[in-house]
Amino acid sequence: MVGSSIKNVVCRQILDSRGTPTVEVDVTLNNGVMGRASVPSGASTGANEALELRDQKDSYFFGKSVLKALKNINNIISPAIIGKNALKQAEIDNIMLNLDGTQNKSKLGANAILGVSMAVCRAAANYKGLPLYAYLSGGKGITLPMPMMNVLNGGKHADSNLNIQEFMIVPISAKSWEKALKMCAEVFNSLKNLLKSKNLSTAVGDEGGFAPNLKSDEEALKLLSMAVTKAGYQPQKDFKFALDVAASEMFNYATQMGYAGKYYFWKSKKLYSAMELLEYYQHLVANYPIVSIEDGFAEEDWSAWDLMNNKMGKKIQIVGDDLFVTNPTRLTRGIREKSANAILIKLNQIGTVSETLKCINLAQQNGFKTVISHRSGETEDTFIADLAVATNAGQIKSGAPSRGERVAKYNQLLRIEEQLDKSAVFAGSKVFK
Ligand code: PGA
Ligand code: ZN
Repeated sequence: MVGSSIKNVVCRQILDSRGTPTVEVDVTLNNGVMGRASVPSGASTGANEALELRDQKDSYFFGKSVLKALKNINNIISPAIIGKNALKQAEIDNIMLNLDGTQNKSKLGANAILGVSMAVCRAAANYKGLPLYAYLSGGKGITLPMPMMNVLNGGKHADSNLNIQEFMIVPISAKSWEKALKMCAEVFNSLKNLLKSKNLSTAVGDEGGFAPNLKSDEEALKLLSMAVTKAGYQPQKDFKFALDVAASEMFNYATQMGYAGKYYFWKSKKLYSAMELLEYYQHLVANYPIVSIEDGFAEEDWSAWDLMNNKMGKKIQIVGDDLFVTNPTRLTRGIREKSANAILIKLNQIGTVSETLKCINLAQQNGFKTVISHRSGETEDTFIADLAVATNAGQIKSGAPSRGERVAKYNQLLRIEEQLDKSAVFAGSKVFK
């Protein structure tokens, strides 16, 4: 056994930001160095995501406990990786893939596998005495990402009457991460004052953004423009906007109501065909400084995606989240069919660090933009901040500059920028070119 061999794996059930149980793993190496990681959880999850194993026992933690996942770590994963070299991430991830043997990690649970995968990675970085981003990239990761901060929450993430799940601000004129964060925090606070002045709710949704009841989704974009102006910035020049529609939800609602193939915006009670929805997006982009739309169509509505990317992909970023689920196989189809021009990256959609890196590589090699993302259920773990820098992803979304689990990622990026010092590069506005 060498110093970097895995000596011990300890796991526990902790809570995420919604008060729901999740998996935390500690991996200790032979020389005593430890790595800890915890697993996030989505609400608007894609049907093709790797399986999050939950116990489904109603009487205990409302069915959401993860004790089976812990058992799988203790009884199956741990015995197979103890003694293995933590520096060999791909090898360890492969051992877990083989132990699981399913397409969607349903035997062991993606939450069990990912917790171990991330903890091994951290332990290895600590063994090398390197920050996670430097270890992950072999020193090549130097780019601080442009943030897309979700300041107004709708859809499944909030009780507001907004249909679109995320209204995000993008500090397009920022020249550093520190400045980007400051600009977003200023607009966030300006938005709060604006809502207060209109007697609107300033309570926040799952991702830290405000969740007011407004006249319409379009009204939200008007409010954002006002908040930007009131903070002393100019919409278009200093700030652009980004949307995550999470349209698989609208698609599923319509199907349940007997309108298969259409989109039901259940909060405003409007039914759209794919064509009508595309026209609606074109209207929004023509009238507001929108630079990116994520999940404008449902995860299996490939032809609508192709059409949207064809019509709008030259002007704005078209991001596949539920469509690609960080899965190289689905991304390969999207590249072939030109279904989008960017991919959202979530570690727990695919379930190992190695497969996540593979997916990012595939995207970048094919000219796709990459956006590293949190989940609506998060923990204090800041892995994604380091991942964004390590892969020179160019973009990150981790919610509003509010709520500890969101801000933890943004603060980690401040530290990384400070540490990289003169070698730090900020992605800047060119990331959308
Ligand atoms: P989720 O939302 O974590 O609830 O899936 C985030 C997103 O859709 O991007
Ligand atoms: Zn999304």
